[in-house]
Amino acid sequence: MVLVARLVKDSRRGDRLTSTTSSIKYCPERWIPVMPESDIVITCAKGIVPFLKEETLSLGLPIVSEHLSAIETKGTLEDAMRLNLHVRTGQRVLFLIEDFDANDPDELYGNVSTIAWEQLFSEKSHFCVTSTVDNPTIRDSRYANLKCKDAIADRFSKEVGRRPDSGSDRTGVVIHLHWEGDRCRLFLDTSGEPLSRRGYRKNPLEAPMQETLAAATVLATGWDGEGHFINPMCGSGTLCIEAVMIGLHKPPGLLRNNFGFMHLKGFSEASWKELRGRAKRETKKSLGGRIIATDMSPKAIQAARQNAATAGAEHLIEFGVCDYSETSIPKEGGVIVLNPPYGERLGEMKALEQLYRGIGDFFKKRCVGYRGYIFTGNLSLAKKVGLRTKRRVPFYNGEIECRLLEYELYKGSKKGKSGG
Ligand SMILES: C[S@@+](CC[C@H](N)C(=O)[O-])C[C@H]1O[C@@H](n2cnc3c(N)ncnc32)[C@H](O)[C@@H]1O
Repeated sequence: MVLVARLVKDSRRGDRLTSTTSSIKYCPERWIPVMPESDIVITCAKGIVPFLKEETLSLGLPIVSEHLSAIETKGTLEDAMRLNLHVRTGQRVLFLIEDFDANDPDELYGNVSTIAWEQLFSEKSHFCVTSTVDNPTIRDSRYANLKCKDAIADRFSKEVGRRPDSGSDRTGVVIHLHWEGDRCRLFLDTSGEPLSRRGYRKNPLEAPMQETLAAATVLATGWDGEGHFINPMCGSGTLCIEAVMIGLHKPPGLLRNNFGFMHLKGFSEASWKELRGRAKRETKKSLGGRIIATDMSPKAIQAARQNAATAGAEHLIEFGVCDYSETSIPKEGGVIVLNPPYGERLGEMKALEQLYRGIGDFFKKRCVGYRGYIFTGNLSLAKKVGLRTKRRVPFYNGEIECRLLEYELYKGSKKGKSGG
């Protein structure tokens, strides 16, 4: 069956599935062709946009606009599926299905109920509504979610005689509302659960880095699978696991078996399998350098090993329990990355100052020939390292402003102005 949809044309909205009379036929072999191409918004943490842009461009998609914590591109639902499979640094891939004006919750309800939801997903599916709202009539965004949810369920009730189940669980269909002023944009959240939930971190320990942030950190170091990747203070192993996946060109989406798009009508299992199959064939089996990850906490190493095993990366990482300064450093060079405690959630200041000073000495004495990196959320502690920073990349860990500090560790690295 090939899809035929009658679409409403509106000078502001363009072609969209808003008509109550839309008639759609599905092609089981192809992805839903309902909306040939639409706006796609990919959200991310602050600071990550430059990396997400690169990733999106490398998948052959344009950058239409960029924001503080999102970029906007254009594509089909099949492109959204590719993004979900490949993107390492994004959180959610949102596919625009409709935009309209609404001044208050009743107008929101009215507009949402004109959308042919029954053609997008089955009444047997579970759905969830999420939102970001900045409208004077809404004090709690949960009220906007509720209005959308009611409009969708009532629409199903009227059109097919049954209301689908709904709730806050994001494992089925996820609809996202972005309501700013009087402008509403309604999206299919094709990711469902955020993409940072790769599924490998069964054991997070304390203060773990979000997977998407760890991926952006590794990308920022420029490590590409050649040369060694050394990760003392590895904690639950997020950085070294992301490094393995980057080095092997293994898309993070291969680790997950549930995405929002899978619950939409017309989802083609065959196309998804084909995409995954191609990605698997393009994944390398080995790396050009060694990956060494250590931590002084045996519990951390146990968790990191377990997480790496779940991610299929354990055989490529040499784990060890030791003080960071005793980590074995092969002489050929590469990248060394540390994410020391920085006082917001772990550790005491005096001891931490000592620790950061020690890292400076360790870099200078034992890591010559490497590019050294420290990821920290405490810029005054970073100054204690006592080495000249070559580059400072701004990141955010939740609300904490962080920096990835780069040090070039050549013989006789001079003391000088240090990072922050
Ligand atoms: C902020 S956590 C790292 C989190 C890690 N990036 C993750 O995603 O799980 C800091 C880690 O440094 C380790 N650590 C602190 N002092 C250390 C030292 N002197 N030598 C080795 N590891 C140390 C702690 O055990 C902790 O696991």
